Amino acid sequence: MSDDNDKKPKIEPGTGHTLQSFLVGEHVYLRTVQEGDEKWAASWRQGFIRRSVSATESWIEDDLKDEDELLLLIVRKRDDRVVGSLKRDSWKHSTWYSGYIDPLFGEQGDHWLGEAYCLALQWTVDEQHGVIASVERVGADKPIILEKLASIGCRISSTFRESHRVGDTFIDWHFVHYLNKDWVKTLGDPFEDEKPRSGTGEPRPVIAPVQVDGDKLPLNAVRVGPRVYLRPLQKADAAKLVEWSRRETEPFWSSGRDVVTQTAVERWFEKLGEDEPQAWVRFAVCLRENDEFIGAVGVDGIDYDHRCGESESEFHNVEYRSKGYGTEAKHLLFDYAFNTLGLHSLQSWVMYSNTRSAAALRKQGYKDVGIEPWLVRRAGAFENFGTYELLADEWRAMPRATVEEAGDLAG
Ligand SMILES: CC(C)(COP(=O)(O)OP(=O)(O)OC[C@H]1O[C@@H](n2cnc3c(N)ncnc32)[C@H](O)[C@@H]1OP(=O)(O)O)[C@@H](O)C(=O)NCCC(=O)NCCS
Repeated sequence: MSDDNDKKPKIEPGTGHTLQSFLVGEHVYLRTVQEGDEKWAASWRQGFIRRSVSATESWIEDDLKDEDELLLLIVRKRDDRVVGSLKRDSWKHSTWYSGYIDPLFGEQGDHWLGEAYCLALQWTVDEQHGVIASVERVGADKPIILEKLASIGCRISSTFRESHRVGDTFIDWHFVHYLNKDWVKTLGDPFEDEKPRSGTGEPRPVIAPVQVDGDKLPLNAVRVGPRVYLRPLQKADAAKLVEWSRRETEPFWSSGRDVVTQTAVERWFEKLGEDEPQAWVRFAVCLRENDEFIGAVGVDGIDYDHRCGESESEFHNVEYRSKGYGTEAKHLLFDYAFNTLGLHSLQSWVMYSNTRSAAALRKQGYKDVGIEPWLVRRAGAFENFGTYELLADEWRAMPRATVEEAGDLAG
């Protein structure tokens, strides 16, 4: 590497930004990674673990080119020192940025990260005509970053309570969105759309796991409820899932019905069990009376640092929807997520038109915490998602149904 570096023209410190005509702010500029950046690895390499210079050098040489996400370094203008980074992630027409700034720079670093977010959001939305761009996680302890984002017209769309760990306390974190003003003119302001609702909106007593005689325990069960039990998904479940997916009756709760192949589902189920620790814990929901596999519940995107994750559920067999099985299975999942995985909070995202899923969440104790605007295409426009959250302590404080009551409450 040193040979190549010797051939490169030497750039006077503090002049790096003059080599680019955009993504340059008042104090920082953004550029992609280049050889030599490994020397500041601790300041910009994202992830739970801080990496060494040598490990980062090989990562830049060998692995970075295979990464799908764009990684932009935040570079201080006055001396070209790398101080942080932004990762860009995209899905459909939405773009998300997640940033890291070396915490040793203190408040100064917050100013730089705020400026970097603004550069990236304005570039994506105003210059590249993106529909919407967002910043995924800004802790409530970062007013400088929030003010900077507000100064360009960003809005907080969701506030997840106690989902951001700082030391041994949990504080709120905000999801912040930057909408394309031209699209707002055409489609109206999604923040003014009313969230449609169904169901009672009332939380019900928790249907807790039941004790089962050891000889009658369902095979491979991890939690057993009055009517259903959870067990790890296995390759053989894929065929059933595919069979039910072909009989799906409701196109509204996702972006239309999907065609799924058995091999892809088999691979997915096998892969779910490979990570250690698992980033996506997903269980089959089976009937106790005959072991039939009727759906799945899980926690995706588990963040063991902030001790949170996104809960998800899907009853593939349409006959078993709207009968309380989803709620019973979710309480078994909560017991696993909070008491076995040690999570502190669970988040959930639900499409506005999927009022049943939102009603089920409210029934399970989740609180409405905001909106994720324009996430999917819908009838010549975009549809919003509602955001929801359940804290472990809130769930623990909910009344428990007796075993006798649980049968009635489940429905
Ligand atoms: C979402 C799902 C897991 C919920 O489980 P479930 O067992 O059906 O839910 P429950 O029966 O416990 O609760 C349903 C709630 O919605 C209401 N509801 C029932 N049918 C409804 C319908 N067709 N439309 C709107 N609301 C309905 C019920 O009244 C109940 O609320 P309430 O008890 O406060 O009145 C399940 O319906 C499902 O798999 N749906 C398809 C996949 C899906 O939408 N997954 C979630 C993606 S975010």
